[in-house]
Amino acid sequence: MINPFDGQGPTSPKYYANRKDLLGTFTKSVTAVVKSKGVTRPLNIGIMGRWGIGKTSTLYKFRDILENELNGGKVFSAMVSLKPACCEDADTFSATVLETIFTEYESSSGLSRKIKDFLNEEKNAIRNWKLSKLSLNPELERKQKSVSAVNFKETLLRLWKKLESNGVDLAIIMLDDIHYVLTQGKGEILFDLRTDMQALSAAGARFMFIITGPVTLYPEMRDKAEPFTRLFERFDLEPFDFDGTKELIEKPLAVEKIKLEVSDEVIRKIHEITAGHPYFITLAVRDLLNQKQEGRLSAKEFIESYPDLVDHFARIKFNDDYARATDAEKEVLRKLAASNKQEVAPNDIGGAAVTKFLERLVSKDLVLKIARGKYAVYNPLFKEYLRRKKA
Ligand SMILES: Nc1ncnc2c1ncn2[C@@H]1O[C@H](COP(=O)(O)OP(=O)(O)O)[C@@H](O)[C@H]1O
Ligand SMILES: [Mg+2]
Repeated sequence: MINPFDGQGPTSPKYYANRKDLLGTFTKSVTAVVKSKGVTRPLNIGIMGRWGIGKTSTLYKFRDILENELNGGKVFSAMVSLKPACCEDADTFSATVLETIFTEYESSSGLSRKIKDFLNEEKNAIRNWKLSKLSLNPELERKQKSVSAVNFKETLLRLWKKLESNGVDLAIIMLDDIHYVLTQGKGEILFDLRTDMQALSAAGARFMFIITGPVTLYPEMRDKAEPFTRLFERFDLEPFDFDGTKELIEKPLAVEKIKLEVSDEVIRKIHEITAGHPYFITLAVRDLLNQKQEGRLSAKEFIESYPDLVDHFARIKFNDDYARATDAEKEVLRKLAASNKQEVAPNDIGGAAVTKFLERLVSKDLVLKIARGKYAVYNPLFKEYLRRKKA
């Protein structure tokens, strides 16, 4: 049996649904830079959104567009998935980003031997630098300041010169999950990155930077993050509307020629219970498709399997979510879920004292802050799960 709905990692570009504005902006900017030979400057793009909303999937889709939808033009691209360990200090960050660029790059139309050799040399230089850093004991390192010599800007400038002399029109650097820089408390890395980006642009290097991160990158780290994020055109990824949900469900079925017809009524139900969250839509459809592979799926059949969905999501996500809350936070979560209101104020569930817990739950991605003093459980299915829970 074929089941194209997965949810474990970023979705395959051929199933990618929705987000027309974002894809359009990206394609237009790339094309404009290529066509004008850099007279039109590349746009930097910031893709912000909560867990599972489709940030990484979008970067994969971008890569696919470069590979398949670019008419002429030569674009170099590299995608860096940041991890907390990459961001311990500015040097480690630079070294990791550069090493990934020199290792896992792609090019829309092949690269010459000369460029490949160059990339290899640069990669080895970074690796050697890393080794020499490791072999130094901390004492020595403090004395020998010169060891901290990965120059991010100079290295990227060298890369650009090389690419340009080999006919490349644009280089795209994607930094996935930029917030790890901030969770490590190393906001100054962003300052440096901003300075480097501006210097590269001033030197005529054609780099397009794309970052992804949670929406809360901004308010929490305003002083550190704002000057940096101003360099980006920001896109906030919202949950899907009905049409987006419909496309997410129908596209993979069509691509894989699966003869299951899902009525609009069922799509509407899925849209409601998942609140349009692409990850949950994917899981819901994966479950349904495991039960029925052809014919027409009626609303009645769907409703009958709804309790199973909560059960299924519990196993793969909600149990973990719940475990991340402290006992006091769990109690607040259950009260929030027990309320019949869509948006709950602290006063509805115990007064100002719970605000502190609600804010912590927001930072754990378990509760949404809808407006000032208005909260809701992050997903209707999670609400249903909590309602079934006994204290
Ligand atoms: N535009 C989309 N089209 C189809 N599926 C999507 C889309 N965006 C997200 N998904 C689904 O949601 C899941 C999580 O997406 P992902 O890109 O990993 O999110 P994020 O990086 O924001 O945490 C994917 O496995 C995929 O099933
Ligand atoms: Mg991701």
